Amino acid sequence: MDLFTPLTLRGTEIRNRVMVSPMCQYSCALDGLATDWHLVHLGQRASGGAGVVMTEAAAVNPEGRISPHDLGIWSQEHANALAPTTQFVRGQGATPAIQLAHAGRKASTHRPFADESGPVHGEHGWTPVGPTDEPYPHDDPLDVEALDQDGIEGVVDDFRTAAELSLDAGFEIAEVHGAHGYLLHEFYSPVTNTREDDYGGDFTGRTRLIREVTAAVREVWPDDKPVFVRLSATDWLPDRESWTVDDTVRLSRDLEAAGADLVDVSGGGIHSDQQVPGTGAHYQVPYAERVKHEAEVASGAVGKITTPQGADEVIRNERADLAILAREHINDPYFTLHAGEELGRMDAVDVPDQYERGFPSS
Ligand SMILES: Cc1cc2nc3c(=O)[nH]c(=O)nc-3n(C[C@H](O)[C@H](O)[C@H](O)COP(=O)(O)O)c2cc1C
Repeated sequence: MDLFTPLTLRGTEIRNRVMVSPMCQYSCALDGLATDWHLVHLGQRASGGAGVVMTEAAAVNPEGRISPHDLGIWSQEHANALAPTTQFVRGQGATPAIQLAHAGRKASTHRPFADESGPVHGEHGWTPVGPTDEPYPHDDPLDVEALDQDGIEGVVDDFRTAAELSLDAGFEIAEVHGAHGYLLHEFYSPVTNTREDDYGGDFTGRTRLIREVTAAVREVWPDDKPVFVRLSATDWLPDRESWTVDDTVRLSRDLEAAGADLVDVSGGGIHSDQQVPGTGAHYQVPYAERVKHEAEVASGAVGKITTPQGADEVIRNERADLAILAREHINDPYFTLHAGEELGRMDAVDVPDQYERGFPSS
């Protein structure tokens, strides 16, 4: 087995083990509707040979956007705007995937390339929601509203509806975004969830929301199509009660029971005090390896995988089932085609006919 071995999850065959990691583009016009940018950006990476091409975090409701320019998937108009992208991605032989997201208390912030940074106060901003009314430790935080029972049910419904719309748009994989300090992570981490009702307290209470959301997505997602969940494997806050890799292994099993087929294993984001032990090459791969072998759930490894040889090693040595690359795909949309060249496997990649003269060994 190597980087180019197809992966079959349920009835869906993914052509190789490379996934374009979700990457916010902050390129919508305040309405969450996909633009030409999304078609070109995602389409180009599908032409580049990746197996799975995943959208950025797509908010399941307007309050769930990280910034006012985020992608959304809360109406038929949003699905229609994404349909040309899924059609193009599939036409290139890649599997189109969407990350369904809610930013929780980290919502309503300026996009990274805006003139200002931090929370959006005033026009175009809104009141974020979270497990409690405690804000993320920004310098000038917005007030946060704690979700009540109705609010929680609304979030579960919004994920379910977003999955239905995503299916209509032509996506074949739905990923629940449960990482990076956003809403679902805020519920499962003891750092941010101090609730005393059914959605707080012990491990079972804190993980209830992500399990319910995963089950709701699975309920409407076809049996032959996979559901992924992205988790933060650890809060990287070893000096206080916080989420650990052991917790992730346990939750991965529960999520598989709720209908997830693969856990995309990331890390951090819950608090600005986090101490990341090092961000060298493959720094999060050991977490994905634990999920795969201890929870016995298919996993995806992400974090500083930047070379064909490195991605291939992750798959060959069965550390994970997918090699997930973000920044390297910004740098090189044709990563998978170049991997075919470097690893002597041009037989296993799909060079678009139009580009064959740029890949003479194909
Ligand atoms: C520009 C950019 C935008 C990102 N947006 C998202 C996102 O929408 N959802 C998500 O789960 N992670 C997001 N991430 C994190 C990446 O998916 C990935 O986990 C992280 O960059 C580590 O992988 P890398 O070392 O290959 O870049 C983003 C990263 C970058 C660089």
